[in-house]
Amino acid sequence: MRSERARAGDGLARRLSSFAVVAQGLLAGTSLAASLPACLAPDSDCSLREVAALAGVPVGSAVNPALFAVDPLYVPTLVREFDSVTSENAHKWPSLHPAPGVYDFAAADAVVELAEANGMRVRGHTLLWANPERIPGYVNDMASPDVLRAELTEHIETVVGRYAGRIAAWDVVNEPLENLGSTLYENVFFQQLGPGYIAEAFRIAHAADPSALLFLNEVFVTVPGTERFDAFLALVKDLIADGVPIHGVGLQTHLLGGLVPVDPATFQAAVRTFTDLGLHVEITEMDVPMLGGGADALDLQAEIVQEVVGACLAVPLCDAVTFWGFTDLHTWIDGTFGPGYRPLLFDEAYERKPAYFALRHALQERALAMPEPAGPASALAVLAALGALARRRAPGCGVAR
Ligand code: XIL
Repeated sequence: MRSERARAGDGLARRLSSFAVVAQGLLAGTSLAASLPACLAPDSDCSLREVAALAGVPVGSAVNPALFAVDPLYVPTLVREFDSVTSENAHKWPSLHPAPGVYDFAAADAVVELAEANGMRVRGHTLLWANPERIPGYVNDMASPDVLRAELTEHIETVVGRYAGRIAAWDVVNEPLENLGSTLYENVFFQQLGPGYIAEAFRIAHAADPSALLFLNEVFVTVPGTERFDAFLALVKDLIADGVPIHGVGLQTHLLGGLVPVDPATFQAAVRTFTDLGLHVEITEMDVPMLGGGADALDLQAEIVQEVVGACLAVPLCDAVTFWGFTDLHTWIDGTFGPGYRPLLFDEAYERKPAYFALRHALQERALAMPEPAGPASALAVLAALGALARRRAPGCGVAR
């Protein structure tokens, strides 16, 4: 069965082709190649961020500022390839605010300053990840709702206020649901403030920077009809109904690549469920850990990246993609699940993997599907390029499933 993404491509091709027939007569003698941005050609060698810019979709990575001065390839690769960054840990509560009244912004500032020096967007991750092991002990121990509410307010006002106008989007609350469950996680905020703590956090953040886009970020909420998905959707709908300033849903997208099949059409249905509510959707933390050491695993990984990112980017309000790191040399998967899963876009020697080309291909497709401002010559060029892309899959994307 053909993917919805392929069918969406057909629709675009149909719309463009009727236009193209009319335009053709006007264009005798013009060079199609001249009007197609070089980065959209199937054999281009542009960076991810060059292609992403044409698609109007930031392409991002989580970053660890402790590596900036330690690994000589880290920053050059990051700034060449990405135009969006998320602190892997530096903006989390325990890093920024380890004790009452004590803030340490050094690492977080380093991320924001690197981004500003290199024309990159910053996603703020995260104001409130309130599982007991993700929050300092002094917060878990707060004895009364008033004290806890005051601490939450101070934390969000201080952090969002410091970066107002500089951090474009915040994951206000991270992982509000029980691990793998379908009820709200009963953390200290839930226990003392009730389920309304989520709405409170969004309202405080919005007041501190009305220009920031505010996201609810969650993992494993991409299969509509499951209890967990329905619980998350109900939460999002309640926030909207209550007038809470929520602008988007972050889908973490840690995919257990070789282990659990991911159906791109199902993923896209989940995305559409949120965008139909008027929300942005971003892929916020993608990685695809693979079992097995062979090249086949990397080809399958590339196919998953292309299909899942493509399924999201076929939806206009799915408008950014962030990976949770970029080189297999530095990945939280090694620390959490053990070595050898190779979940990212570059290998340990910073060579581009098939997954890299698959992501670039998905970004090219999004760029080619953009409405055409430039007139008939470029419409025809887009049509030609769409055909070329359809005939030629990204390198490494040939594994049948
Ligand atoms: C992870 C970091 O990558 C690790 O370095 C840290 O030890 C734990 O957190 N979902 C999230 C991210 O929302 O914040 C997590 O990041 C990965 C899972």
